[in-house]
Amino acid sequence: MTTARFDPVDALRGEVTPPTDKSISHRAAIFGAMAADPVRIRGYLHAADTTSTLDAMRALGAIVEVHADEVVVRGSGLREAQVPDAPIDVGNAGTLMRLLPGWLAAQPGRTYHLDGDSSIRRRPVDRIAEPLRLMGAGIEATDGRFPPFAVHGRRLHAIDYTLPVASAQVKSCVLIAGLTADGATTITEPKPSRDHTERMLAASGVTLRRTGDQLCVTNVDELLLEDLVVPGDPSSAAFWIAAGVLVRGSRIVIRATGTNWTRTGFHRIVQRMGGIVVGDLEEDPGDDVRAGEPVSDLDVAAGPLVGTTVEADEVPLAIDELPLVALLGVFAEGETVVRGAQELKLKESDRITAVVDGLRGLGASIEATDDGFVVQGTGELRGGTISSHGDHRLAMLGAVAGMASREGVTVEGMDAAAVSYPGFTDDFATLASA
Ligand code: S3P
Repeated sequence: MTTARFDPVDALRGEVTPPTDKSISHRAAIFGAMAADPVRIRGYLHAADTTSTLDAMRALGAIVEVHADEVVVRGSGLREAQVPDAPIDVGNAGTLMRLLPGWLAAQPGRTYHLDGDSSIRRRPVDRIAEPLRLMGAGIEATDGRFPPFAVHGRRLHAIDYTLPVASAQVKSCVLIAGLTADGATTITEPKPSRDHTERMLAASGVTLRRTGDQLCVTNVDELLLEDLVVPGDPSSAAFWIAAGVLVRGSRIVIRATGTNWTRTGFHRIVQRMGGIVVGDLEEDPGDDVRAGEPVSDLDVAAGPLVGTTVEADEVPLAIDELPLVALLGVFAEGETVVRGAQELKLKESDRITAVVDGLRGLGASIEATDDGFVVQGTGELRGGTISSHGDHRLAMLGAVAGMASREGVTVEGMDAAAVSYPGFTDDFATLASA
């Protein structure tokens, strides 16, 4: 575990290109392994989580070539996932753990074992086990709901499934299983969540019908995937949006960032609070599912912030950025409230407790609620020491808090940032020295 110090900075200036998208990279590797022909992925994220996915695809029989400018995945095909000798190690990657069983469940007569790190072992898999069992697969999980777990592949049949929580991971798992199930699988979403899987299915020649909050997919012979280009990750860009908005005198240009509407809830929250985020964010909600992912440069500058309320509908669209909303709330005038975000307890750490305890330890006035938090804005943050709890997003939250604080912040466990953003401290040094 490494400790890093982030002292207050006068201003952050210049350009930054955030790492490419973690969610899309996971999907690109999995779809590449399921596809009939080799898939070239430009801009694949090389970080701990997405390396776990490449390793898992190799274990399942794919040939994965990593070149300087692209990753080429030569897959085994939709119905030919091999059985590895050892359990598949998903590392820290919740998305890998929850998407992959959708494919494995459809391999009749084969059993796969999945496990991961200590954080993964406290993250439930019952949310995917339920629909996969309804489709005919067998899932045996530790204590009925945790990794390590086994997936017994069977011939699947279609279901009509209403997601109990708005989760892109669960939706994606069922969509993938629907590709091989007999009949038409229908999924009803309680609220919109990130739609990268839907876009990648469209890019793979799969007919996916969306009607209101329902998605419908039927089985296909094979995936015919075009080459893929992965845009910058809006969740990684979010740290520079927050830093640019909080550190007075800053002006940051964030290059080539994904602006898929289902990922830019945080950008809209920041704009509502008074932060300056300018870019092409015009993608409309409810657009037909499109194959591509929209991209834009973003221009970020500090502005006086006011508190806001984030309601349940907005939560899935900003789920991974909600810790940053808490930090912005500290510097805003008035109260900032996040509601309907109980899912935060099930992330890489319990992000309600860890954010509230962590920011309070730095001098913030913040209370946890059952489904979020309430922050009283004080316009400043003292500083101190914060633990990442091994959670990449909390490590970078602590770093941004330090940049905007009065006395600086020591982050214990800064190495966790490598899960999604291995070059974070280098990019910080560049922006702080310009
Ligand atoms: C993800 C979906 C979200 C998100 C996670 C990545 C994905 O999780 O928090 O970091 O790639 O589908 P849930 O599906 O649990 O909301």
